[in-house]
Amino acid sequence: MSAPANTARLRDFVTGFSSLLARVTDERLILEEGGALLERLVAHDDWLPDAYAAPDPTRYRQYLLHCDSRERFSVVSFVWGPGQATPIHDHRVWGLVGVLRGAETSEPFAHDAGGAVRSAGPPELLSAGKVEAVSPSIGDIHRVANAHADAVSISIHVYGANIGAVERATYGVDGTAKRFVSGYANATLPNLWDRSGATQ
Ligand SMILES: [Fe+2]
Repeated sequence: MSAPANTARLRDFVTGFSSLLARVTDERLILEEGGALLERLVAHDDWLPDAYAAPDPTRYRQYLLHCDSRERFSVVSFVWGPGQATPIHDHRVWGLVGVLRGAETSEPFAHDAGGAVRSAGPPELLSAGKVEAVSPSIGDIHRVANAHADAVSISIHVYGANIGAVERATYGVDGTAKRFVSGYANATLPNLWDRSGATQ
């Protein structure tokens, strides 16, 4: 049995990100300063409760960890079983991806002159502790896969909306778009707000 999760790290991240968005509206600064907050969060792998780290044998999982009450941002754990991958997809809002456990590949895609979606570069390997950004202004379409064929990988994502409710698209290999609203795999959220066990 694993040790109790140190959810104070996630609480500190959530309150830090909320303060950042109260202070900063420029996307470049949100990604820069928010990326530093996410780097700090994924530097330690002792805080994600097991219920939000559980893989599914058939497909990747996305568990909501927190949604801002004004839906300015949401925090999600993505859990990939061995060899699992997303379809090619977009986000329509800014997003930050930080790898907590294992490693992932992120392959960029972009619309060509005819409007079809085509590969825009080789897959990038993201190992634990690494953070990358996506958004409509810097490149918003990619396909993400577990880099491991024999182990679970987990990344923590932050988006500039309640991402599970955003209407966006997945893309077929022929570039055709399909409407996509992801939702979430979980019915409950981690309890971040109980401070009774805190030492100060
Ligand atoms: Fe994505």
